[in-house]
Amino acid sequence: MLKKIRVWDLPTRLFHWLFAIVITGAFITINLDETELHAKFGYAACILVIFRIVWGFVGPEHARFANFVPTLGQLKAFIKHPVHDKLGHNPLGALSVLGLLLVVLVQTSSGLFTDDEISFQGPLSHFVSSEIASWLTGLHEFNSNLIYALVGLHLLAIFYYQKVKKQDLIRPMLTGDKDLSSEDTNTPTALNPSKDHWGVRGLALVILVVIATGFYFLVIKK
Ligand code: HEM
Ligand code: HEM
Repeated sequence: MLKKIRVWDLPTRLFHWLFAIVITGAFITINLDETELHAKFGYAACILVIFRIVWGFVGPEHARFANFVPTLGQLKAFIKHPVHDKLGHNPLGALSVLGLLLVVLVQTSSGLFTDDEISFQGPLSHFVSSEIASWLTGLHEFNSNLIYALVGLHLLAIFYYQKVKKQDLIRPMLTGDKDLSSEDTNTPTALNPSKDHWGVRGLALVILVVIATGFYFLVIKK
């Protein structure tokens, strides 16, 4: 019999797809030389990444860092014997999540201090000397390659699970549910679903609004 278990709460799923959209938007717009629009996608990415970090502490079961960030021992064990008996991210997937969040955090933070020496100055660039702004602009340019690399790796890993391991990770990121009968022999033993009721979703909305408002007044409007 099919048994559906909620693994990704709605806020985490919305975060994921919006994150993918705004990062793609930031890459497209900078390549079209639309720097103002690029910065707007960048602000959205910054708000989302801060939201995801907070959600990693207060969100439900499988969104919490405490429940998926592996110890070194767990990581080594998974590399030797890649079986994952829990519902959420596996130890390697967890590393990729942390990596993606970190590189985007560096990208958006450095973006706020950029100065392209033509027409655009990041909203916080006047708080630092022109040498530091130019160093951070260089960091912004360099770090964008790490985003390309990690996103590429992320997509390859998802494709590998889909095609080679015959595990559909994409559908749960869309619907929220894992279908346990379609799992391979690595059936999760810890069947603790993520809470995803309207109280949880309301909390996420409040957190997002607080972060976005704070960001608008403290960073953009400053
Ligand atoms: C710029 C593009 C993307 C970025 C930056 C990105 C980033 C992320 C992040 C940060 C997570 C962790 C989610 C969380 O715990 O909050 C994640 C998970 C995931 N992403 Fe993406 N993603 C991107 C594109 C995509 C695309 C296009 C797909 C599908 C084809 C995809 C499929 C998934 C899946 C299935 C998971 C869950 C993996 C698991 O079950 O452990 N992502 N992604
Ligand atoms: C996730 C968010 C972001 C991504 C993925 C991103 C990505 C990029 C990329 C790929 C470039 C081109 C680098 C190169 O020329 O090699 C770039 C340049 C630039 N970005 Fe971002 N960026 C983000 C956020 C921001 C933010 C928040 C701002 C400012 C508020 C910003 C301002 C700029 C500026 C001004 C440049 C041009 C720098 C120059 O030509 O000297 N970016 N960004």
